[in-house]
Amino acid sequence: MEFSKTIGITGGAGFIGSHVVRFLLKKYPFYRIVNIDALTYAGNLENLKDVDKLPNYIFEQADICDAERIDALFKNYGFNAIIHLAAESHVDRSIMDPLAFVRTNVVGTGILLNACRTYWGGEFKDKLFYHVSTDEVYGSLGPTGFFTEETPYDPRSPYSASKASSDHLVMAYYHTYNLPVVISNCSNNYGSHHFPEKLIPLIINNIRHRQPLPVYGKGENVRDWLWVEDHARAIDIIFHKGTRGEKYNIGGLNEWKNIDLVRLLCSIMDSKLGRPAGQSEQLITFVKDRAGHDLRYAIDASKLTRELGWKPSLQFQEGLEKTVDWYLQNEEWVNHITSGQYQQYYNQQYAKR
Ligand code: NAD
Ligand code: TYD
Repeated sequence: MEFSKTIGITGGAGFIGSHVVRFLLKKYPFYRIVNIDALTYAGNLENLKDVDKLPNYIFEQADICDAERIDALFKNYGFNAIIHLAAESHVDRSIMDPLAFVRTNVVGTGILLNACRTYWGGEFKDKLFYHVSTDEVYGSLGPTGFFTEETPYDPRSPYSASKASSDHLVMAYYHTYNLPVVISNCSNNYGSHHFPEKLIPLIINNIRHRQPLPVYGKGENVRDWLWVEDHARAIDIIFHKGTRGEKYNIGGLNEWKNIDLVRLLCSIMDSKLGRPAGQSEQLITFVKDRAGHDLRYAIDASKLTRELGWKPSLQFQEGLEKTVDWYLQNEEWVNHITSGQYQQYYNQQYAKR
């Protein structure tokens, strides 16, 4: 089959990456999608088992920090575009092991940018490096206000500092070499296939197994939650219509204090599991706060809505119900993920709190 373009998607076996791969594979059967993923603890090919036989899908196990391997992939596939999601993505792990974040998020991004510069050789027509980033680069908000695309960067965790560095590298390649780039900075995602080290899937898993629900500090921190498929849809729109050299904020207009979100999950799960109302809330345990814990994230996504017509599609309660249903129906996926290495991480992260 003739394909109209070949897109390399890094980190396609992870949470958001697998949703982006699935979305593009189905919507554009005439695009060849090459999923480039090292399969770290966070990468899981089971995330794509419903689409991995499609004729426009290819998987390549590769580390983005391995410059020779990345060069070979560029030679082999002649990518028209890269959508870059591969990253170390969990703040708590970045506190345990910051250099792993510098390696993948900074060095790995540099290696990909350089491969684009080399293989596209200044011929940038119809080429694009799309960098998927986070709202955490903007730092921490007080009780009011929103992050806009003009908010100065002020990262405060090793994770957000490494993502901020990668954003700067991307813009440096745009200004210095005219590399066609676009960046999006998104708020917290939730949905299916989310690794249970992050708040929502961890709480769902622990409620299910009647384990303590660890809430950092007083649970007053605020996050702006977005349905992961709405993020994938935003990436599709920005990929096709975004202006080169621009940044776009993506957010859910959906702020929740952690403690209120955990209580909502308890009530949804009590009703789905046929437990008496209020039972799971008794599992809530306030634990030692995260070091440097950002108080509040809130995104102003009006540029994306105004210029490219994107809006979140799903109400939070509906999205959470769908998410809980997915975890309840995919026990095997969860069991697979939470065996072995995960237990080691969990004990190290939560034992002393
Ligand atoms: P994830 O941790 O679920 O997945 C990361 C993927 O990258 C995994 O498949 C992993 O195997 C792969 N990977 C890691 N290191 C690699 C390397 N050196 N080489 C090749 N592959 C490697 O992450 P996610 O939550 O899906 O996030 C994806 C991207 O979106 C990240 O860049 C993250 O910063 C960004 N982001 C995430 C959120 C969120 O709420 N999760 C919000 C905004 C932005
Ligand atoms: P997380 O899902 O790790 O995303 P991020 O830190 O990137 O926003 O955490 C979301 C919020 O939940 C954050 O304020 C930290 C808090 N949190 C807990 O209270 N308990 C937990 O066990 C985890 C993992 C997070």
